[in-house]
Amino acid sequence: MSNDRARFLIEDFEKTVVEFIRRHGVTHDEYRVATDFVIREVQAGEASLAFDVLFEAEATDNANQGREGSIEAIEGPFYLPGAPMLEGPRFVMPQRPDEPGIPLIFHGRITTADGEPLAGVELDMWHADADGKYSQIHPGIPDWNLRGRFTSEADGTFEVTTIAPPPYEIPKDGPTGQLLSVLGRHCFRPAHLHVKLRHPYFGERTSQLYFEEGEYLDSDVASAVRDGLVIKPVLVEAPDQIKAHGLTESFIDARYDFVLSTARTASGA
Ligand SMILES: [Fe+2]
Repeated sequence: MSNDRARFLIEDFEKTVVEFIRRHGVTHDEYRVATDFVIREVQAGEASLAFDVLFEAEATDNANQGREGSIEAIEGPFYLPGAPMLEGPRFVMPQRPDEPGIPLIFHGRITTADGEPLAGVELDMWHADADGKYSQIHPGIPDWNLRGRFTSEADGTFEVTTIAPPPYEIPKDGPTGQLLSVLGRHCFRPAHLHVKLRHPYFGERTSQLYFEEGEYLDSDVASAVRDGLVIKPVLVEAPDQIKAHGLTESFIDARYDFVLSTARTASGA
């Protein structure tokens, strides 16, 4: 961000808050409640959580203005760089031998807006376990569990085997949870997969995919569900299909095709 852009944004933010204080007759005690809240957020390590819940989806939508192809989504506070590269030919997300959850095959194709396949795109995926917990964030889970990187094939296709994540509650015992309680909102996010795509020309894209008819799709605490990010999951029970994917039980088939494009018309983009 340039200095001019930073100055413009900060001055307008200042003006907006001053107008807010005047409009609502905010008292000094109320003002101090707000600043103390920000301090408590930082002290609890939740600053990003509160801001992500309230504002990240809006900022992400701005980057999607005028975009051809797949839209981007919020990253959220639980991404960690440096996940292990998975060994092919069949990519399986790192997991415990007895990892609970229904197996899920996430697959699709990555192309340009013209339909040209994109080979060698790195997909960096992370998601919650069957208890709604993330490795390296919540205790008692091996490092890098359900976090891994893999690449698309020569024809742009990709496939990875993992388990279906459930909806989960964001941390609710700290200041963010208290804030949401005051607002009368629950702390749940609908079930989702996080994935970043990296390509030498198109750069890095952040996506997040939800499941049709999933719980909390209409009341996501982060207000981040968008039509273009919802997958239709299909339960596959045919024994030959189960065997063909190296599995021993029914699985959920979840397909999403990514279309990468550079077109943007948003201001400041
Ligand atoms: Fe998440």
